[in-house]
Amino acid sequence: MPKAPIVLAVDTPELATAIAWVKATQDHVSVYKLGLEFYLTFGSDGVKAIKDVTDSDIFLDLKLHDIPHTVSGAAKAVSHLAPRFLTVHASGGEAMIRAAVESSPETHITGVTILTSLSEDDVSSIGFEKNALDSAVGLARIAVTAGAGAIVCSPLEIAAIRSAVGSAPIIITPGVRPADTATGDDQVRTMTPKAAISSGANFVVIGRPITQSWSLGSDAMRERAAYIASELI
Ligand code: C5P
Repeated sequence: MPKAPIVLAVDTPELATAIAWVKATQDHVSVYKLGLEFYLTFGSDGVKAIKDVTDSDIFLDLKLHDIPHTVSGAAKAVSHLAPRFLTVHASGGEAMIRAAVESSPETHITGVTILTSLSEDDVSSIGFEKNALDSAVGLARIAVTAGAGAIVCSPLEIAAIRSAVGSAPIIITPGVRPADTATGDDQVRTMTPKAAISSGANFVVIGRPITQSWSLGSDAMRERAAYIASELI
């Protein structure tokens, strides 16, 4: 069976657990997302330890946001890890995104649009003139113009962003919940993984709906990943 278009969020403070999750799920998961907590705790050696146990790709979710020169240096600093995706905040602007793109030719610089944790009130009080959807579309356009190869957005923004940026950019969405998941945790506006892919996403980011099964052991986690993957391929 081919790997599914799942980005597994490896959100754990323990390296041994992270490695065990990857070993349990890698037949079904295309990409592993390592976030700021992981990177700040385990650094490049931690990323290499994950790469050592899988041929799946790495999504380095550092959400860089600074002046272009600094972001360029930061992107270069991790380029030896050859992540398939490296995130930057699209609100850092075109020059910043382009600086990252130029310093990381082997990586898809991935523009994060509007954080899914922000409400419409938050979006407005930060100073965005438009609502979350229109702001996300505008940020996606800026990112793609600057050379970003991928975009992160909420499931509800996929269709509008796809029609704004065309078919080439890779769209990745968190905020998905399998149909059999009872609660949405802190994810408020959700979609099933299948619906997100049908709306035009290329990958779905899934964390707890898979990782919570770890408490039942690695076979349970493997089966959970296989089940969710089977709905996507
Ligand atoms: O909720 P879940 O565990 O599936 O989250 C997976 C990833 O989705 C997290 O690592 C986080 O980056 C992202 N997320 C999000 N918005 C939320 C909650 C999580 O974008 N409200």
